Amino acid sequence: MIDTKPYIEKISAAKTVTELGNITQELFGRKNGVITLAMRELKSLPDKDKKSHAKSLNTAKAELNTAIDEKKAELTGASGDTLKNTDNIDVTLNLPQEERGHLHLIPSFIEKVEEVFGRMGFDTASGPEIENEELNFDLLNFPKDHAARDAQDVFFIESDAPEDNKLLLRAHTSPVQIRYMREHKPPFRAIFPGKVYRKDADATHSPMFHQFEGLMIGKDITLANMKAVMTTAIRELVSEDVEFRFRTAYFPFVEPGLELDMRWRGEDESSREGKWMEVVGCGMTHPNVLRNVNIDPEIWQGFAFGFGVERMLMIKHQITDLRLFFQNDLRFLRQF
Ligand code: PHE
Repeated sequence: MIDTKPYIEKISAAKTVTELGNITQELFGRKNGVITLAMRELKSLPDKDKKSHAKSLNTAKAELNTAIDEKKAELTGASGDTLKNTDNIDVTLNLPQEERGHLHLIPSFIEKVEEVFGRMGFDTASGPEIENEELNFDLLNFPKDHAARDAQDVFFIESDAPEDNKLLLRAHTSPVQIRYMREHKPPFRAIFPGKVYRKDADATHSPMFHQFEGLMIGKDITLANMKAVMTTAIRELVSEDVEFRFRTAYFPFVEPGLELDMRWRGEDESSREGKWMEVVGCGMTHPNVLRNVNIDPEIWQGFAFGFGVERMLMIKHQITDLRLFFQNDLRFLRQF
């Protein structure tokens, strides 16, 4: 039998949480606790005594636990009482700020893209990341033997699809142009953000990256409109004073075709003038593409562009390696 009285007295006399902890240990410690040992001894008692001993032991245990809990509440101020016994609450303590999660900088940038283009009247749409050759290439006016179809560059997917129309991970967001034009009648303007896949990996390439395609078709849309829309977007999304240039380029689905480069400080952080980085492909939609979706190129014309999201962010935030976006290093990500 355990006499709880001296322990109860000790508990109620405790002045600090540490002191109370010591008493608790003395009673319930795993090795030598008074109660722990008594519980263990129960096993060796003759059967006729076991029951009554267990009962009184449980009563003692409950009594002590209650006393400990009450004392603890009193000492820590958790009793809901006033602050009188709560000398271990430091009200001047600077608690760490609660950390809140937020979007990764890529999806949050894409939200901003949708907002900026939304203000210019552009709709937003998306398409699947698994496409076939017809949508990724043929309907965009790529000849059958175009180098971009090379298995070196594109992730083809093994499937039962016909040999001349294999499944693949889309290499650009341009197939969404086709999907959109099949479902909408011109005039229209829309952007198509999303992930694209290519077999590339270095400081300015990743096998998965993000683009947003733009498409604007009307009766009198010109290259001047394209430049105006793109310039507005760049100023709002990258910065007011980013330096950029257009130069001619070839894409089978536009004519004329252009590329836009932005000035970037380069992988070499010490370089003063930096170098040009290609960020956008663009141009006037090729008449063959319009024909492929039953839009009459004698009546309708317009432009398309495809911006590289990570590259815009690299220029905006002076980031020197594109792969940092996907390594999930919080020291990098929480800066944004
Ligand atoms: N799809 C092209 C690429 O990924 C970019 C582009 C889009 C070019 C639209 C012209 C018009 O490289």
